[in-house]
Amino acid sequence: MPVALVGGTGIYNLPGIEVEEKLITNQYGTALVYLGKGEYEDVVFLTRHGADHTTPPHKVNYRANIKALKDLGVARIMSTYAVGAITRDYPVMDLAVLRDFLDFTSGREFTFFDEITRGVGHVEMSAPFCPIMSAKILELAPKHDIKCHDGATYVATNGPRFESPAEIKMYQMLGGHVVGMTCCPEVVLAGELGINFAAVALPINLAAGLEDKITIVEDNIEKVRANMVALMLDVLKNTSDDQCQAPILL
Ligand code: HPA
Repeated sequence: MPVALVGGTGIYNLPGIEVEEKLITNQYGTALVYLGKGEYEDVVFLTRHGADHTTPPHKVNYRANIKALKDLGVARIMSTYAVGAITRDYPVMDLAVLRDFLDFTSGREFTFFDEITRGVGHVEMSAPFCPIMSAKILELAPKHDIKCHDGATYVATNGPRFESPAEIKMYQMLGGHVVGMTCCPEVVLAGELGINFAAVALPINLAAGLEDKITIVEDNIEKVRANMVALMLDVLKNTSDDQCQAPILL
């Protein structure tokens, strides 16, 4: 079945890969996807903030996007997030493999189970991120010249503002490692539709309070992003639908 790569900030296309642009409309809205051609015909690419980064985190139509991928038959998603590091254990410009999340978003459409027609459903979140694909990220990262750190808990904030130092201190105390604005509800919605989901975060700054002011690191970023995309495609190619088990509904 097809697989999908969802790109976050800075990842707006698949360099060197021919794609066909397609708008998919469903009951939640319209999603813009790019269908790979030739060798990549089973790859769907979606860039979360739009090709020209015009959609802010709280306005992304997460449901339209995930439903569009589901309707294309996508069984596995690899997703990327630009984040702030809230601990120096996840250095800026190294990748963090996500294993868990803390959801502080609000006011977003965060579930498919809010309509009478779908009934009541509770997706199980003991392992929100696919362990098989996550292990493959760690295994293949050195081949793509990427330093990768396992075990990150992603703190999802509503944005679009950044956090205060006191908030970051609180997130540290709660066990968060990186902070961003988009992983929730994306990972949850994929789980609700039975799609395997794994993700990497790229810290591009130290979070509020770790330094005097937030500085977004730009050095080498294009190379890191290109390596990241190559790694994600490699992970999707070297894992299979059969190996991966999506979260179950209770
Ligand atoms: N906070 C929230 N989201 C972010 C950050 C941050 O420090 N850096 C990149 N996305």
